[in-house]
Amino acid sequence: MRIGVPKETAPGEKRVATVPDVVGKLIKLGFSVAVESGAGDAANFADETYVAAGASVLPRAADIWGGSDIVFKVRPPSLDEVAMLREGATLIGFVWPAQNPELMAALQAKKATVLAIDCLPRQLSRAQKMDALTSMAGVSGYRAVVEAANAFGRFFNGQITAAGKIPPAKVFIAGAGVAGLAAIGTAANLGAIVRANDTRAEVADQVTSLGGEFVKVDYEEEGSGGGGYAKVMSEGFQAAQRAMYAQQAKECDIIVTTALIPGKPAPRLITAEMVQSMKPGSVIVDMAAEQGGNCELTVPGEAVVRHGVTIVGYTDLASRLAKQSSTLYSTNLLRLAEELCKTKDGVIDVDFGDDAIRGLTVIKAGELTWPAPPPKLPAAAPKPKTAAVAAPAAKGHGHGAGEPMSAKSLAIVFGVGALLFWGVGATAPASFLSHFTVFVLACFVGYMVVWNVTPSLHTPLMSVTNAISSIIAIGALVQVAPPLDAAGAVDRPNGLILGLAVFALVLTAINMFGGFAVTRRMLAMFRK
Ligand code: NAI
Repeated sequence: MRIGVPKETAPGEKRVATVPDVVGKLIKLGFSVAVESGAGDAANFADETYVAAGASVLPRAADIWGGSDIVFKVRPPSLDEVAMLREGATLIGFVWPAQNPELMAALQAKKATVLAIDCLPRQLSRAQKMDALTSMAGVSGYRAVVEAANAFGRFFNGQITAAGKIPPAKVFIAGAGVAGLAAIGTAANLGAIVRANDTRAEVADQVTSLGGEFVKVDYEEEGSGGGGYAKVMSEGFQAAQRAMYAQQAKECDIIVTTALIPGKPAPRLITAEMVQSMKPGSVIVDMAAEQGGNCELTVPGEAVVRHGVTIVGYTDLASRLAKQSSTLYSTNLLRLAEELCKTKDGVIDVDFGDDAIRGLTVIKAGELTWPAPPPKLPAAAPKPKTAAVAAPAAKGHGHGAGEPMSAKSLAIVFGVGALLFWGVGATAPASFLSHFTVFVLACFVGYMVVWNVTPSLHTPLMSVTNAISSIIAIGALVQVAPPLDAAGAVDRPNGLILGLAVFALVLTAINMFGGFAVTRRMLAMFRK
């Protein structure tokens, strides 16, 4: 079967649905690939690179649409493009069936089979490799921070220079979904102080591990609506959230808003008064601009200045990093092609027995198959009812966020421990007791050390522990330079043992110095 890749026609769209690297892999699956001339130009993929990868480059869009069995697209096609589509062909790309009823009708009339990448059941872990919404949101979250940095007149990181001390920028991220988490990581890497909030308290740990601080709303309410999405919150919660956002607006230099509940208009989180209260020169990037905006003053598709604050409402953030997003998007489509063509003979099978494929298929041979029934998920363990808002922070993984034990339970634990210890002491030989004491203390110290280190630092912690384990070098040292006995004589080991001891010393030295050096390098990556 032939896969056709037309040039995107939406104004300003720079992405392309397939990149040359992926062309070769599609050909290995048994497909042939035809690309419209100039389709990759805006994403820096020239026609020649497609030809070198084995694709044919055709000059006219009509040849791609009319001559292909499968069409790979990024944006939903226009009605003119659908008119060129061959009857009974397959279209794969973003379609947004709920927003585009006319397009859906036109595709049905063409007896097309349509796989809408935006309808992928994202909750299936098997579907993650095809999740273009996630890859595009990740790119966009990164770009949102880059846009903010471009509009902001200062550094993100703090510096002490001969010309004076520069404080780090304070960035607040509203909504810690895919785009929000990417924005947190990017802003933290640029050296800013990053804070974030989300109605789903379970994301607090992810915010922390990316270098941000999770700011809680002072109101107990669980915000998870299931499937990793949020729900509409109560009036009481919204009022408390507004008060917290008003405070953050006064303190922060940059706000990136990404809050969204699928199928609902974007929640209004930043009011005109909050914008007015921000420092002049501050920046807001409203990623939800297309869904009505999280900020009252956003103009979709534009960057405007209101009350001295730049409000960026671009709706094409992924397209502004066209090379990166095209590469990720085409890899998502390649993974989908692999699922559709398990036989690797260039023929696709839209198998409704596969939950991921079923979810994606919005039209099959002209018949409307959208919306798909919810996929069958493996049964999840029932959640304890009490594990509401404060629960994710309970384990804390450091920063002293864990719930302290009550005095009574602490006394019971210590009492039982002391009794056990007495029992062992009363019955076991003296030498065992001393080893046992060391063992118990080691367990305690190890537990305290690991539990009080933030999860993102667990890898350097392991390498430093590995370095410390080189303490076994003492054994080899004792062999090389044995202690004097009571008579002042030395019992020298034979040559073989000495040789082995020296060899062991060399190995442990590599482990020790290497371990510390690796730890140092890893920690340097976290230092601001
Ligand atoms: P997502 O659904 O993964 O994340 C949205 C987050 O907002 C969720 O974590 C949710 O819990 C949170 N949220 C919902 N209501 C909230 C509230 N009232 N307060 C605080 N948090 C709340 O969505 P994703 O993929 O991260 O996308 C984020 C936004 O960016 C969406 O609006 C999406 O359409 C938009 N987007 C914009 C692009 C652009 O070019 N401007 C490109 C890609 C995505």
